[in-house]
Amino acid sequence: MPTDLAIGIHDLSFSTTSLVLGHDELSRHNGTDIAKYHKGIGQRAMSVPTADEDIVTMAAAAAAPIVQRHTADRIRTLVLATETSIDQSKAAGIYVHSLLGLPPQVRVVEVKQACYGATAGLQFATALVHRDPAQQVLVIASDVSRYDLDSPGEATQGAAAAALLVSADPALIEIDRPSGLFTSDIMDFWRPNYRSTALVNGKESVTAYLEAVEGAWRDYNAQGGLPLEEFRAFCYHQPYTRMAFKAHRRLLEACGVQPDDAAVESAIAATTGYNETVGNSYTASMYLALAALLDSGSELTGQSLGLFSYGSGSVAEFLAGRLRPGYREHLRGDAHREAVSKRRAIDYGTYRELHERTLPTDGGWHDLPHQTQGPFRLAGLRDHQRIYETA
Ligand code: HMG
Repeated sequence: MPTDLAIGIHDLSFSTTSLVLGHDELSRHNGTDIAKYHKGIGQRAMSVPTADEDIVTMAAAAAAPIVQRHTADRIRTLVLATETSIDQSKAAGIYVHSLLGLPPQVRVVEVKQACYGATAGLQFATALVHRDPAQQVLVIASDVSRYDLDSPGEATQGAAAAALLVSADPALIEIDRPSGLFTSDIMDFWRPNYRSTALVNGKESVTAYLEAVEGAWRDYNAQGGLPLEEFRAFCYHQPYTRMAFKAHRRLLEACGVQPDDAAVESAIAATTGYNETVGNSYTASMYLALAALLDSGSELTGQSLGLFSYGSGSVAEFLAGRLRPGYREHLRGDAHREAVSKRRAIDYGTYRELHERTLPTDGGWHDLPHQTQGPFRLAGLRDHQRIYETA
């Protein structure tokens, strides 16, 4: 069994929805000072799915360019992490498997632990690749973040999917050992099966997140991880981008460093560009922060990055990754910027209508309007089944 084999992220691609609601439009409706959105929580817009978009269509759209570039020849496992499940039994990834035309010799499984799920998927994937370095694992994070209308969480909604190809000798990032873990049984954010919107104790969730930053970092140190000064950059889970600022400040404090606001700001600036306009994409959020950093143009070869993944409830992990030589040749910055910029702006009324819309539950035959600009769509429902197609 190889022990010093480099394993990590070989390719990274994300997709989002076809529609976008600006926070300026939301603030016109609810009278909130726009500075609270732009500065207080660090958000400018949120991705909104059309009637025929969901976690499956976003996941397939995120992963399709990866399969196109690398083929599916070495992929043996597809892990889809989500907290926006569409079925209590069947894994959403099986629809994605079908839309991508993957061979039957690929196992598919869904994992859940709030926003943390994809990082669990990444760790499971590295273990599978360690066991058989010839294999690759496709890990997809896909979520639609939904809170009640006119609630404090509303301004942090969003949607996106991030797909990672995990492989030996990765082109982008080697995932290092050890990692730091922190689990705590708390009710900061949850969504009972009968609800389509999350319940949240907002302020408590912020405190819980920050405690988890410190807890995971302390465990990382206890496991013999790198010291703070070895890290060139940090990507945090970003339920709203200002949270990354709070998180980094807390990490510095935990290391006994007196944080200076300007320094904290500049440490996370390159990681927030996508999330401030996409909103919270739950499982995908930290990977959009990573994509923003990689696409920012900085030269990071050989440098270590700190990745902090948090899922309410809660489980958190701090892990380190090292940028591989030549990684910049494999990035997808143009496609990512296009995914964000091509979204169609909608007004508050259209957003509200989409938010209030629920899929019929009568098991009948319902066609959905063709609204997506993406490559895949949810065409409708028949006999309690979801019907997907190439758009
Ligand atoms: P709120 O009550 O709307 O806002 O809730 P606030 O009054 O706390 O204000 C927010 C910030 O804006 C404050 O700054 C204000 O001072 C500032 P802070 O004290 O935080 O530094 N502010 C202004 N700034 C400039 N100009 C102004 C102005 N007014 C106020 N005029 C809250 C905020 C985050 C609680 C809410 O949005 C919420 O409930 N969000 C959902 C929960 C959430 O995102 N929690 C984050 C941690 S938990 C997590 O990350 C997990 C999660 O992703 C789910 C999962 O794991 O599955 C959510």
